[in-house]
Amino acid sequence: MASSLTVLGIETSCDETAAAVVRRAPDGAVEVLSSVVASQIQEHAPYGGVVPEIAARSHVEGIDGIVREAMREAGVGFDSLDGVAATAGPGLVGGVMVGLSFGKAVALAAGKPLVAVNHLEGHAVSARLGAKAAYPFLLLLVSGGHCQLLSVEGVGLCKRYGSTIDDAAGEAFDKIAKALGLPYPGGPHLERLAEGGDPSRFPLPRALLGHQGCDFSFSGLKTAAARVAQAAVKTDQDRADLCASVQAAIARQLAERSDRAMARYAAHHPHRLFVVAGGVAANRTVRRVLEETAAARGFAFVAPPLKYCTDNAAMIALAGAERLAEGLVSGLDVAARPRWPLDEAAALADPTHKPGRKGAKA
Ligand code: KG4
Ligand code: ZN
Repeated sequence: MASSLTVLGIETSCDETAAAVVRRAPDGAVEVLSSVVASQIQEHAPYGGVVPEIAARSHVEGIDGIVREAMREAGVGFDSLDGVAATAGPGLVGGVMVGLSFGKAVALAAGKPLVAVNHLEGHAVSARLGAKAAYPFLLLLVSGGHCQLLSVEGVGLCKRYGSTIDDAAGEAFDKIAKALGLPYPGGPHLERLAEGGDPSRFPLPRALLGHQGCDFSFSGLKTAAARVAQAAVKTDQDRADLCASVQAAIARQLAERSDRAMARYAAHHPHRLFVVAGGVAANRTVRRVLEETAAARGFAFVAPPLKYCTDNAAMIALAGAERLAEGLVSGLDVAARPRWPLDEAAALADPTHKPGRKGAKA
């Protein structure tokens, strides 16, 4: 009979150096033995965003200690691991190379298989760190770098329904927050300010209204909000009202596109499960509005525990364990990828999401 798999996960694709140890039982039950996340926010704060060179250097300096801490907290030695999973992309490639190289070194030294994990696949399985969420499901992935709707049929089997044609939802939160003078990353600050605000005070544009697809666009909202911030925000109440209006507008767009995707998904899937993941899934208004949308369509709703919404290595370890269980391992020559869409075929075929110099975007 198959036994449990204990996997070390490593995540370094953006501005968090993270390591975790996760144990996955053959029936899919998950136990997080440790999850250590070291944020670099303080180092990037003076620049108002993530500086790739600073991120890469900081990962180099921190990775050794973070992995040691995750192993110590989990109370396991390298010899009791069944595999090592490391994010191999998409992300800031300097940082990805640090974590992936470290993962290769551990795998080689300990004689364990390496699993190169797509960061987005990590987010896709993150809901399973807190609840049962069997395949297949409809996924809304909303983070700082990504905003897409996908049907997830199994391990590594995704079909894209739609994605953003400009900014990601988290990026919109961050840029609007910046225009309001809030620190980076602005999403959580904007949410806090919105608590005392009136979401109906400032009417904001609704993007792609005439389109029937599941694509997103946030750049018009960003420009309009920046204009309101300059022209009409004088008092603390004005600021709170604008934050609440922006949050409501982002949540509404996410809900509208998810609603369309649910209709499309339900036509082919008898089991209706809607999963939302990524940093923006930590926003309570977004969660509530999406939960209501799912309920209206007869979908069960699952979101990861708050600490696993933003970047972490437990989701990478779990994605690695799922791959390992299916015998999907990587060679030590696997390369770091700045771009790596979950549904590569759709990303390459769709002219509205042009592939860049480095290949298809997400
Ligand atoms: O998943 P994540 O940690 O990193 C990426 O893979 O991008 O997501 C980070 C993003 C940031 O844009 C951040 O502002 C946003 O998630 N975020 C939030 C909240 N918490 C994090 N946005 C709105 N409300 C929040 N509470
Ligand atoms: Zn992420």
